[in-house]
Amino acid sequence: MSDDMLRAPAEVKYAEELDYLESIDDSPKPFSWRLSPRMIRLFILGSERSDGIDREIPQKWFGDRSFVERSIVTLASDRGLLLIGDPGTGKSWLAELLAAAICRNSTLVVQGTAGTTEDHIKYSWNVSMVIAKGQSRESMIPSPIMTAMETGVIGRFEELTRSTSDVQDALISILSEKYVSIPELDDDNIVFAQPGFSIIATANSRDRGVNDLSSALKRRFNFVRIPVVTNKKSEAEIVRFRTEELLRRHRIELDVPPTLLDILLQSFADLRSAAASATSDDEKLESALSTAEQIGVLEDAILHSNFFGDRTLRAQTLASSLVGSLARRSPEDLAILNKYWHGVVEPRSKKDGGEWPEFLEGGREAIATLS
Ligand SMILES: Nc1ncnc2c1ncn2[C@@H]1O[C@H](COP(=O)(O)OP(=O)(O)OP(=O)(O)O)[C@@H](O)[C@H]1O
Ligand SMILES: [Mg+2]
Repeated sequence: MSDDMLRAPAEVKYAEELDYLESIDDSPKPFSWRLSPRMIRLFILGSERSDGIDREIPQKWFGDRSFVERSIVTLASDRGLLLIGDPGTGKSWLAELLAAAICRNSTLVVQGTAGTTEDHIKYSWNVSMVIAKGQSRESMIPSPIMTAMETGVIGRFEELTRSTSDVQDALISILSEKYVSIPELDDDNIVFAQPGFSIIATANSRDRGVNDLSSALKRRFNFVRIPVVTNKKSEAEIVRFRTEELLRRHRIELDVPPTLLDILLQSFADLRSAAASATSDDEKLESALSTAEQIGVLEDAILHSNFFGDRTLRAQTLASSLVGSLARRSPEDLAILNKYWHGVVEPRSKKDGGEWPEFLEGGREAIATLS
């Protein structure tokens, strides 16, 4: 089934694994959850030998287990879960995995934007049906959040802080009263949340201040802060995991040499430490240099090699895709990359050799083309 979707939701992609875990799960489950908290943790973080199960469950989200545990515990309480952190730290991915494991439905999602209205989190009307038959439950269009309430599953709210305070206020009543009233209707005008309903929201810490959350709303959420992965080993694992998936999805057979992954990881680590010691924004790349961006660089390079190259990823291609993705502002970003290439890549290439000289050359050319 997942073959005819550009991107299958986690519950479809891992359906077979989830079925298996459900079949061996004999621990107590909160509400109408499909899996127990321990099994959810195992699904997300992967199995270890000591778990004593018959098959290996691969790790899907990389990060400290305490974040996953706190998230699961929160969802079993009557508070919502707010995953907050820098862009590209895997918040949305964790939210999706949690919803898939808990209720096999990760697609009841509302996207927070400046244009999100109360209707998007409550309900709206099918206008032609209202004209034909009047307002009734039939002519009402429930929002994803309302559907989640009615069916006792997880609703997701992406980029909560980008929505206006009106919308955030409406969410307060949903999270505290756990019902939505429909004043337009005379009877059957309250939708109660079924047990199991909760909300997983995500917020980008760089957006903070756009609409600072009200303290009333803050109280109804448990915050789980997801840090940028700086541990090179975990980061390598994330990049490898995503790359394999990407190759499978595009049905590409291509060799990604581990030495090039090391170069990619090293460059990001170097650029991050340069950003950390920069004194002004002009000396900092516009990019947050997240793991997600690293994956993006690699994805571009892989596709490029596949379509235009000889189906082997080369250091030169990697360098030009790195420069291409990170040089967003001209001249500031280009100047920073130029400095990095002269001050770091050049000495490294003399000292370490290997693929570095080709990486050096590729980057130089790309910078020259863009300048
Ligand atoms: N810790 C992680 N474990 C597994 N995958 C990760 C992790 N961090 C990032 N990724 C991968 O990076 C990509 C982007 O992650 P995601 O969209 O979840 O980030 P986000 O935190 O929601 O970012 P934003 O704030 O920009 O919405 C996904 O493909 C995700 O799988
Ligand atoms: Mg996100």
